[in-house]
Amino acid sequence: MPYSLMDRRIESDIIPYARRNGMAVIAYYPLGHGKLITRFPRDALEIITRNHGPKTVAQIVLNWIVSKHEHVFPIPRASNPDHVRENLGVAGWRLTEEEIRYLEGIRFV
Ligand SMILES: NC(=O)c1ccc[n+]([C@@H]2O[C@H](COP(=O)([O-])OP(=O)(O)OC[C@H]3O[C@@H](n4cnc5c(N)ncnc54)[C@H](OP(=O)(O)O)[C@@H]3O)[C@@H](O)[C@H]2O)c1
Repeated sequence: MPYSLMDRRIESDIIPYARRNGMAVIAYYPLGHGKLITRFPRDALEIITRNHGPKTVAQIVLNWIVSKHEHVFPIPRASNPDHVRENLGVAGWRLTEEEIRYLEGIRFV
């Protein structure tokens, strides 16, 4: 299902339904077709980097998904091998609840 900070339509029904029934959800377009990268505010990047050490925007927006839900798995498209390696940096750390709420307050559209 399409799911990202820019498209949260499945949060009210499919994601809780899947959790209740022991199902995983695959998150398509988790980078908003790349728009989340270009529209991400510099302030937010600085705040997350200050708290967690160097992170890229792609790592942050993918981490937003895996920090919120243990049963939702983003599958970003990346044709650039550097992007593939960078996106692996989503693993091994978690945004805090406060950071998650902060990111959800940003208007990306
Ligand atoms: N069965 C399936 O597997 C299936 C079915 C339907 C839809 N899908 C979904 O189809 C989507 C196709 O991709 P999309 O372009 O529409 O959406 P997307 O995955 O949200 O965004 C992909 C774009 O982000 C760029 N990107 C990736 N990693 C990046 C990074 N670390 N830094 C900067 N830019 C980065 C890519 O550039 P580069 O290419 O230059 O790396 C590409 O332009 C996939 O997300 C997949 O989830 C999959």
